[in-house]
Amino acid sequence: MTTFSKQTYESRRAVLRQRVGEGLIVIFGNNEVPYNYPANTYNFCQDSSFVYYFAQKRDGLVGVIDCESGDEWLIGNDIDIDDIVWMGETPSVADMAAEIGVARTAPMARLAELVNEARAKGRTVHFLPPYRHDIQIQIMDLLGIHPSKQKEAASLKLIHAVIDQRACKTAEEVAELEKAAKVGYEMHTTAMHKIREGVSELEVAAEVNRVACAHGYISFPTIFSMHGEILHGIPRDNKLEAGRLVICDSGCEIGSHYTSDNTRTMPVSGKFTQRQKDIYNTVLAAHGHALTIARPGVKWIDVHLAACRVLTERLKELGLMCGDVDEAVAAGAHALFMPHGLGHMMGLDVHDMEALGQIYVGYDDEVRPSTQFGTAFLRCGRRLQEGFVMSDEPGIYFIPQLIDEWRAKGLHKEFINYDKVETYKDFGGIRLEDDILITADGCRLIGERQIPITVEDVEAEMAR
Ligand code: GLY
Ligand code: MN
Ligand code: MN
Repeated sequence: MTTFSKQTYESRRAVLRQRVGEGLIVIFGNNEVPYNYPANTYNFCQDSSFVYYFAQKRDGLVGVIDCESGDEWLIGNDIDIDDIVWMGETPSVADMAAEIGVARTAPMARLAELVNEARAKGRTVHFLPPYRHDIQIQIMDLLGIHPSKQKEAASLKLIHAVIDQRACKTAEEVAELEKAAKVGYEMHTTAMHKIREGVSELEVAAEVNRVACAHGYISFPTIFSMHGEILHGIPRDNKLEAGRLVICDSGCEIGSHYTSDNTRTMPVSGKFTQRQKDIYNTVLAAHGHALTIARPGVKWIDVHLAACRVLTERLKELGLMCGDVDEAVAAGAHALFMPHGLGHMMGLDVHDMEALGQIYVGYDDEVRPSTQFGTAFLRCGRRLQEGFVMSDEPGIYFIPQLIDEWRAKGLHKEFINYDKVETYKDFGGIRLEDDILITADGCRLIGERQIPITVEDVEAEMAR
């Protein structure tokens, strides 16, 4: 069963064909990936562009669209009796093609013939930048392009056409994201219920992952750590300690492949200290401010900078920063505390379409990426459009090594009160993240219910 109707996939491919206009489009599905021997594989993850146009979630498939003739193929080998014995029956390639309105099927050997026929006529063979080595080998065999040159040889026309389609989510896609958000809600409230002094990070993270796996899979390896200052801190066998904060950044990828991505930061003891509340509410204010200004036509980089100004204002009130707020943000001084971007696109990939090239997904001729530390990690800067789904994820982190480095270099000392910052080196970090849909005149949170986020609501949920 595909997620959407046959017509959805037919019309997506028709739009793609029209936008690319000429040549042969080849979209590779993913293969199984072994983790220690060939028959022992990672959880299968289909390529998201393949899911978007060809829906089917089996390994070993390739979709082909002839832009001129309109012919479409689903290419793949049918499984044999050995596969059936071990893995059970799966639909034939012909049945899978029929389900998505693709008229032609062929075994994998036919792919090289189709590609060679097109090349012999001087036609372009369009492919997306590969991110897996097996697909790189397949492309090298088909087109003779060495893997080191494939990123630049990938079709810009195809990349832009795919991004334009996938970036704006339709109502039926938003409905899937809402389902993923519901699982995200359960993942994070589970964490809130399980966090207790003496329980290990690994134990709580396992409970969070269990919720995701009951509905699909995790959308990325769960971040769960008392070391919130490590942006992607993986859970370890550390016993949770009273008085510490713990960060949980996790999401689900439901069966349709649509994802959620949320972060909450919680006090192990169930109650925030005043010092923790001060920083927490600073991050919360930045998170909330982004929601008031994100709308179609606004540049996401401006939303990012506005959130950074809120952080800077509050950090100044707390005595951690000083000087003129606008000048501090323009200089990048706030990046000592938030060395990452406000958020990224979301969808079938948790960092949606990142494999196609961040420069194309998040930037354009008008908005170019910043080279300044901190804002350089912003994965999207361009103007928002109705239907974009973004993560809103400001944070404040006290990273001892970064503090030491900046202080030693005397960086931004007119904006940073280093003596006070020193006293926060044991603080950890706070990030708060929700996913938002850009609507016709503003934005709204994805998810029927927001995961508890105020100090009071988090404490109440943890007490349940
Ligand atoms: N998974 C890390 C993030 O929130 O982007
Ligand atoms: Mn996240
Ligand atoms: Mn995120």
